Amino acid sequence: MTSRIRFISLIVFSAWFHIVFSIIIFSTTSFASTSSFPLENIKFTQDQASLQRGAKIYYNVCRMCHSMKYIKYKTLEEIGFNKSQIDALRGDKPKNTALGKTISDPVLNTLYGQVPPDLSLMAKARKRGPQYIYTLLTTYSETEGAYENAVFPGIKMPDTLNIAVAVNDSRKEEIKNRAKDVTEFLLWSSDPRAAMRKNIGVYVVIYFIILSTLLFFIMKRVWSRLDK
Ligand code: HEC
Repeated sequence: MTSRIRFISLIVFSAWFHIVFSIIIFSTTSFASTSSFPLENIKFTQDQASLQRGAKIYYNVCRMCHSMKYIKYKTLEEIGFNKSQIDALRGDKPKNTALGKTISDPVLNTLYGQVPPDLSLMAKARKRGPQYIYTLLTTYSETEGAYENAVFPGIKMPDTLNIAVAVNDSRKEEIKNRAKDVTEFLLWSSDPRAAMRKNIGVYVVIYFIILSTLLFFIMKRVWSRLDK
C-alpha cells in the first residue's frame, strides 16, 4: 500500500517539476509570425559594442526624422556610454531630455505627408520587430532615381543607409552591419530592462533546481519513515 502511495507522490512530484520547467521554457520562447516578404532570419546578441555603434547611427542618421521619446540621453549610460560622451551627444539640452528629432514636424509633414513614427518601441510594435526593421533597412532598390522597398512597398522613408546605391559587395556588407547595429539599438530601447530580467531568470532557474532537489530528498525521507 505505501509503495503505491509513494509511486503516486513521485508522479505528482515529477508532474510539478514538468509544469515549472515548461513555464520557464515557454516564457523564454518568442513566437514566430508571418510576413508576406521573407524577413532576414538574423540573430540579435545585444552586445555592448554593437549597441553603442547602433546608438550613434540612430543619432547621426535616423534622429533627423525619428524621435525616441521614451529614451533619455542619460539612459544611454546603461549601454556603456560614460557621462562626458553623453554630455557631448546631448549638447546644451537640459539633463532630462529624451532623444528628439532634428527636423521639425511641419517640415517633415511637408516632405513626407506625415510625421515619421517614434522609434522607441518600434521593435515591439511590428511582428518579428527586429527582423522586420533589419530587412526593411536592407531591401531598398533604385531604378532611375526612384527607390522602392521589398518589405514595405511604397514606403515614404528614403533609403537612409544608401544600400540601393552600394557600389560593391563589401560596401553592401558594411551597410548591412550598420543596419544590424541600429536594429540592436532599437531592440534594446524597446525594452531596456530585458538584460536585467534575463539575469534574474538564471537565478530563478537555479532556485527551482535547488528547491526541487531538496523537495525530492524530503519526500524520500518522509516516505522511508512511513515504510518502517
Ligand atoms: C529623412 C527622414 C528619415 C530618416 C533619416 C529615417 N526615416 Fe524612418 N521613416 C521616415 C518616414 C517618412 C517614415 C514613414 C514611412 C511610411 O509610413 O510610408 C519612416 C518609417 C520608419 C519605420 C516604420 C515602418 C513601418 O512599418 O511603419 C521604421 C522602422 C523606420 N522608419 C526606421 C528608421 C531607421 C532605423 C532610421 C535610421 C537608420 C530611419 N528610419 C531614418 C523617414 C525617415
